[in-house]
Amino acid sequence: MKAIVVNGPHDMRIEDVERPSVRKDDDVLIRVRAVGVCGSDMHILHGDNPFVSYPRVMGHEVVGEVAGFGSAVTGLDVGDHVVVEPITYGDNSYAVRRGMPNVSEDLKVNGVHVDGGEQEYLVVRHRQVHRIDKRVPWTTAVLAEPYTIAGNSTMRGHVGAGDTVLVQGAGPIGIAVLRIARAKGASVMVSDVVDDKLDFALANGAERVVNTVRENLVDAVSEWTNGEMANIVIDAACLPQTFQASFDLASVAGTIVVLGMNTTPVGIPQKPIMAKQLTVVGSRLQAFQFDPIIHMMESGLIGDDGLVTHVFDYKDAQKAFDLLDAHPEQVKKLVLTFGA
Ligand SMILES: NC(=O)c1ccc[n+]([C@@H]2O[C@H](COP(=O)([O-])OP(=O)(O)OC[C@H]3O[C@@H](n4cnc5c(N)ncnc54)[C@H](O)[C@@H]3O)[C@@H](O)[C@H]2O)c1
Repeated sequence: MKAIVVNGPHDMRIEDVERPSVRKDDDVLIRVRAVGVCGSDMHILHGDNPFVSYPRVMGHEVVGEVAGFGSAVTGLDVGDHVVVEPITYGDNSYAVRRGMPNVSEDLKVNGVHVDGGEQEYLVVRHRQVHRIDKRVPWTTAVLAEPYTIAGNSTMRGHVGAGDTVLVQGAGPIGIAVLRIARAKGASVMVSDVVDDKLDFALANGAERVVNTVRENLVDAVSEWTNGEMANIVIDAACLPQTFQASFDLASVAGTIVVLGMNTTPVGIPQKPIMAKQLTVVGSRLQAFQFDPIIHMMESGLIGDDGLVTHVFDYKDAQKAFDLLDAHPEQVKKLVLTFGA
């Protein structure tokens, strides 16, 4: 079978590799149909993802059809359409006991620490497999994983009906956070520095958008919330300055959700955290978000919503990655298909 193998930085090739097979009781063999490409994949291609080892088959946004399974697997049939949850972890760590397996020390991510979905067949554990209605197109189902990032960050921020949420950054993750926060009943303001992205946020349910090149964000949030400021600030721009600004943008009793992995230190005074009794939480990948997100997709509450702008057959992967390198501004979500 064919696999897109990254042998090292800037060295990607489509290779013939051995087709994996069911070996363990809880293995599920998946005929891959579509894989979404995310910014972190481009870091793997460029050699600046600190977690990856080479050679690596990328792909953590994966959907496909069940092609076989081990003897301990129940509730699945050959031909079922499934979304792959791209993480595995052991059963015995503090993180797991706290309901946060996504930060377990032994966490492994498909496409990063172990091979992912950019190949014709993939074997994963039964626990990683979530069935999805066949009526959801492959190129929409593949958005489930990025939507789970939004599910997790809104869960960590306890976003609920009536809350005011500021989402900084209107990239694919910011838009997914906007959609899920709206689905949870919140009012959402979105900031960015690019007008087109803000127009897209408006089309996806933002109540108010702010281009921070032209407008002062603190003033805009204050005006939007009648002086209260945002109950939850979710930073999907992940820059030192957006993280730092969050402390002035959050309301009393507010929550700041941190998605970024930037290592640049920023100066944060103690007073806003104490005086407003802020909660600052991290959000990494997701835990237990696939089933609720798939349910929202199946019921039509969330979907493609204009996010998938480019679809390439996997044989044209080089063209796809070249486009992402040369014109990232033209692409929201790019999907590689495998016979879909
Ligand atoms: N924690 C996690 O689990 C997790 C998962 C996926 C992505 N991420 C991170 O989330 C971030 C967003 O991902 P993405 O794919 O949407 O990235 P992206 O680069 O497409 O989007 C970032 C957006 O922020 C905007 N921006 C730039 N400067 C800004 C500013 N000063 N104020 C407001 N917006 C500004 C950009 O114009 C862009 O639209 C990335 O940093 C990514 O690493 C975290």
